[in-house]
Formats: sequence, structure tokens, C-alpha cells
Amino acid sequence: MTMTFPEHPRDFLDTQDWNRPALDALLVRAAAFKRERLGDALRGKTIALVFFNPSLRTRSSFEIGAFQLGGHAVVLAPGKDAWPIEFDLGTVMDGQAEEHIAEVARVLSRYVDLIGVRAFPKFQDWSVDRQDAVLRGFAKFATVPVINLETIVHPCQELAHILALGEHFGGAAANPGEILRGKKYVLTWTYHPKPLNTAVANSALTIATRYGMDVTLLCPTPEYLLDERYMQRARDNVAAHGGSLSISHDPQAAYAGADIVYAKSWGALPYFGRWEQEQPIRDAHRHFIVDEQKMALTNSAVFSHCLPLRRNVKATDAVMDSPACIAIEEAENRLHVQKAVMAALVAARP
Ligand code: CP
Repeated sequence: MTMTFPEHPRDFLDTQDWNRPALDALLVRAAAFKRERLGDALRGKTIALVFFNPSLRTRSSFEIGAFQLGGHAVVLAPGKDAWPIEFDLGTVMDGQAEEHIAEVARVLSRYVDLIGVRAFPKFQDWSVDRQDAVLRGFAKFATVPVINLETIVHPCQELAHILALGEHFGGAAANPGEILRGKKYVLTWTYHPKPLNTAVANSALTIATRYGMDVTLLCPTPEYLLDERYMQRARDNVAAHGGSLSISHDPQAAYAGADIVYAKSWGALPYFGRWEQEQPIRDAHRHFIVDEQKMALTNSAVFSHCLPLRRNVKATDAVMDSPACIAIEEAENRLHVQKAVMAALVAARP
């Protein structure tokens, strides 16, 4: 398979850093990998996958994807099977951390061709978490490309999502850039007993507006709006790529006429570090579950979720088992888009 990509950054940290031709090229390459799984784009290459948090899809699809392209993946869990890492600069390391990111990233760069990093927020102080210090630390000190495996955005999930939507509306050969323009896209908050990461919601808002859709962000109250960085990004994307952005706290109004329903639960940013005060608001909005009644209001919408998903909490069995649900397709696409990302990043290196 020949590899020609438009120019792109060294790292894959956030899709917003990549221009549309480069993202479209990744999607085209991913579709090709879906048709023909095996290749040699990573022959003799290695990737370190650094997980600070659990994973089913990301870990397995990256490991398998590297293998299918002739490469090899090493999985590390700092603090479990690798030394705990310090990320602050200039600090006296007399706490739990045994080594500094300045050494970790540079040593790994001597061994591998790519580094993937998963590091969720700590959920205590959003002003700290929004700095994405772990990912930024790896990107700063690594001398090989770094891939975001989900921190405060989830760019690999975005690509898998867009590929699945393009396939649904236009078939395997479709250009999502044209197919998705003007679709009514509802990003709905759903109930979950615990506050979750905003990463997938930030990402959904980013990529749906990037691809020119008419996006509605449906959430219980204004406190569940996403960080202004991502709200403003969405407005900027609308200005640059067309489509629209609206906010709703009314499920019936938001679902009406929707072409796409994408669900995710997340914690309200003003309550970081005092989640017991958020719990009553969260508990009062269990009815934001994606169910057959709400889906019946849509324009025969397709439904998806990044997974993992608690059935009959976030979405009903009937929705998950309906032909409208493409969550499994989207999960499969993680494998294909990540192979495209790894191949593109490696091919761009001397
Ligand atoms: N969607 C996703 O990233 O799944 P995992 O958390 O299982 O990797």
C-alpha cells in the first residue's frame, strides 16, 4: 500500500491540529485498511502504549493494529508495571514518583518509533486537568511522534466515529466531508452514577462541527456545558466549515428531526472536586437515557456511543440492539483508523 499523506504535525494529539485534507486522508487510508487488514507499513517498527487508566478497545486495537502492519507494541502501566512518573518541572522528587518524564519520554524514544498515551483527568481541579500535563509532557520530551489514546480529548475515537457515520450515510467509498454536511447531530449527555471524563464529548463537539454538521449539545443544565475552549472551538469550526451549533436542555426538542444521536455521560466542570454536590443534579436527570421513545422523535437517526456503555442506564437494550445502533461498527473502526494514524506518523519520519 503506497503512503502519501498531506503535510501534518509530528504528533496526533488533537484532530484540531490536523487540517481537513490530512484528516480526510486518514479516513481514506482507514477505509483501505478495513478492506485489506494486513500490510507492512509498520514493518520493524514499535510503539509504546502508556496507559495510566483502564482500556479494552484502545489497548487491544492498537496492539492488534501494530501486529497486522508488521510492527510490535509494548504496553506499560506506570505505577503498576512501570515506575511512577513525575511531570512537574523543577520539583523535588521526594514523593511517590521514581523518575521524571524528561527521562521516561527520551528513553522510550530511543527504543520505539511511536508513543501512545492514555491519561484521564484526576477529577479534583479542572483548571489543572485542562492543561493535559501528562500528554503534553510526553510530547515535549519525546523525540518520536506521540498519539493521544484519550486524555481530555479522544481523537482516535473521533476518526472512528466519523468513518462509521460516513459508511452509514454514504457507503464504504463515501467522502464523509461531503456526506455529513448539514446532518442534524445531537450530542446528548446521559446519566451515569459517577462523573466521567469530558474527553469524548469535547471530541464529538470538535469533529461534528469540523465536518459541517448542525450540532445540538443536549445537557441537563448550563453547568454541563463543556469547557469554553471546546465551545469556542465549535463556534470557530462552524464559522470555518458551515453547519451550526445550538444548546438545548430539552430532550424532546433536541431529538426532533435528528439524523445522528451520539451519547456520552460527563461530569459538570464547576463541580470538580466536590462531586457530592453534583450528585443530586445528576440523579435528577436519569431520564436523559437514550430510549425508543426519544429515538422515535428523530429522522430515523443512527445512534452511537464510544463504549463502554452501561445498558439501561445510558441507553436501553432496545436502542443498543436496534439496527440504528452503530456502536460496534464505530468500535471496529478504531482498529482501522489507528492503523492509518500509525502508518502516517511513521511514514513522515526520515
Ligand atoms: N472507547 C474507548 O476508548 O474504549 P476503551 O476505554 O475500552 O479503550
